[in-house]
Amino acid sequence: MFLFKGKEFVKIEPDKFIEDMNLTCDIYYRYKDELFLVINRPIITVETINKIKKLDATYDGIYIESKYLNHVLKEFYQRKTDENYAILDSYYENISLKSQEIMESVEYTSTIPMKITEELSEEICEMVINISAASIIQLINNVRKADEYLFMHGTNVGIINGLIGKWINLDKEDIARLVKLGLLHDVGKFKVPPQILYKPAKLTEQEFEVIKLHPVFSYEIAKRSNEKDADVLNGIRSHHEKINGTGYPDRLKNDEIPLFGRITTISDIYDAMISKRVYKDAHSPFEVLDEFSQGRFSNLDLNIVNVFLDNMPIELIGKPVLLSDGSIGKILYINSANFMYPIVETNGEIVLTNEKLKCVAMYNV
Ligand SMILES: [Fe+2]
Repeated sequence: MFLFKGKEFVKIEPDKFIEDMNLTCDIYYRYKDELFLVINRPIITVETINKIKKLDATYDGIYIESKYLNHVLKEFYQRKTDENYAILDSYYENISLKSQEIMESVEYTSTIPMKITEELSEEICEMVINISAASIIQLINNVRKADEYLFMHGTNVGIINGLIGKWINLDKEDIARLVKLGLLHDVGKFKVPPQILYKPAKLTEQEFEVIKLHPVFSYEIAKRSNEKDADVLNGIRSHHEKINGTGYPDRLKNDEIPLFGRITTISDIYDAMISKRVYKDAHSPFEVLDEFSQGRFSNLDLNIVNVFLDNMPIELIGKPVLLSDGSIGKILYINSANFMYPIVETNGEIVLTNEKLKCVAMYNV
């Protein structure tokens, strides 16, 4: 923050100005303790951008009045997002269509179309490798509507499996296998009677026993559809096992649960948490990291949980975030002892967020 002639000014990076922005504020450059006008209320042109960059490099930075900062940032991120979004959206559109085709085939013929499943796994694998995790997570949340949960859940678990595969440095082929496993893990739910699957009230013990069969159904459908990969098959079957042996269907323990299955368990939980559902809003990545680090979900493979806790914060650093007072900040640092309250830069100040000023959601990454 810089006080000049009774007004508060804030430094702004020149790259926040984009061609065609129509700004309501004046832009200044600073030299020692004084501000000099660069241009007033401009429509930003290439020439203005070049001038701003030159003055920024020559003098002591570019400034605008603090009260306009949020407006400029919103405009900036909106334009950036529009560009990125067109690419991401077309990715996701294509992925949704293929995923729908797979699910419909399972629903009506109880077989998985393997060729299209493999194509889709490879496409998701490419996306995961080439696009930042923060954008992918944001995309999953933005595109999916609450009522599409069951329909898109397999795809999202496939995507998150892919991210974990990338983080643990698997090669491309293995990432694609993990993605495929995610896509298929719940196909057996089509065999569960809808009155049980969608029952709005608490399930009876017998009903829950039926639900518990779905990993076996998924496994059998995949096997019958000619899936030969044992890691994929066993991963599908074991995605509800728990480290202490209390899971289902085979009550496996610790290392008896295949690695691919242990990974999918965590992606499954993660997707359920970050998804907007009819009965709940999506959680912010900070809440999810916090819940994982507090051990809210018992009997998970802590090594894989830690892969999340180690990698997700890195992906979020430097990204824009919406704060609870409506301002936009930039994530500077996420402390592993306190995932809920990152250090952010907002309104030209470095702030340790807290219960009163929280990070609500990532802002159009
Ligand atoms: Fe499941």
